[in-house]
Amino acid sequence: MRRPIVAGNWKMHGSRSENARLVEDLLAHSAAAPAATCVLCPPFVYLQEVARLLRDSALSLGGQDVCADVQGAFTGEVSAAMLKDVGCEYVIVGHSERRLLYRESDQMVARKFAAAHARGLIPILCVGEQLADRDAGRTQEIVARQLEVVLELSGAGALEHGVVAYEPVWAIGTGRNAAPEQAQDVHAFIRARIAARDARIAAATRIVYGGSVKAGNAAELFAMPDVDGGLIGGASLKADEFLTILAAAGPGK
Ligand code: 13P
Repeated sequence: MRRPIVAGNWKMHGSRSENARLVEDLLAHSAAAPAATCVLCPPFVYLQEVARLLRDSALSLGGQDVCADVQGAFTGEVSAAMLKDVGCEYVIVGHSERRLLYRESDQMVARKFAAAHARGLIPILCVGEQLADRDAGRTQEIVARQLEVVLELSGAGALEHGVVAYEPVWAIGTGRNAAPEQAQDVHAFIRARIAARDARIAAATRIVYGGSVKAGNAAELFAMPDVDGGLIGGASLKADEFLTILAAAGPGK
């Protein structure tokens, strides 16, 4: 049985006072033991404070990115050990905004995944095609390439407890979510690719959907057999929306 996971990617939003209010609202209204794993991913500078706010709660902390290198002269970067040190259990790697705006290659993403995994963080590996790729019928090719580079470097075993997030770029922040069947198709494809290497790990890997998930569409997306929760951007900044999405993730498949 896969326990669903709902992660809030705050992206570059928030302030100390806004974060405190949001976390307070989430803690006041979330079930003491939500059925789904819930992860909050604030910007680096707020991690330690959000960790303090989440202490003794059922909610987990994650980073939005991680350096591929262990330590040293990498100005501006944050290592996996540092994320662990301030209380992170999870880290997003290969978000499309990192890939597209900051030119992160598949190889760089794979190194980040390996660095996170080596330090005991659970990577949330983002994959997903752009609109032109989908229109050209290249969705599977793109997603397979992004996934295989990681599997090649780290092995399927590194996905034990791991999370893959399918985030079609055309659905991110656009209000245009993938139809549940479109998400299901790609999720099943991802699971099959992992199964080609290790069927047991494939069956246990949580594959979450991201891209314009809202309170109003979460339940139908999460009802799909291979959709194990969501990676939520905009709607994770509103406590009531995010809590509704968390509740929609249900008990697992
Ligand atoms: P939105 O939920 O705002 O579309 O963002 C999705 C996303 O990129 C989460 O990582």
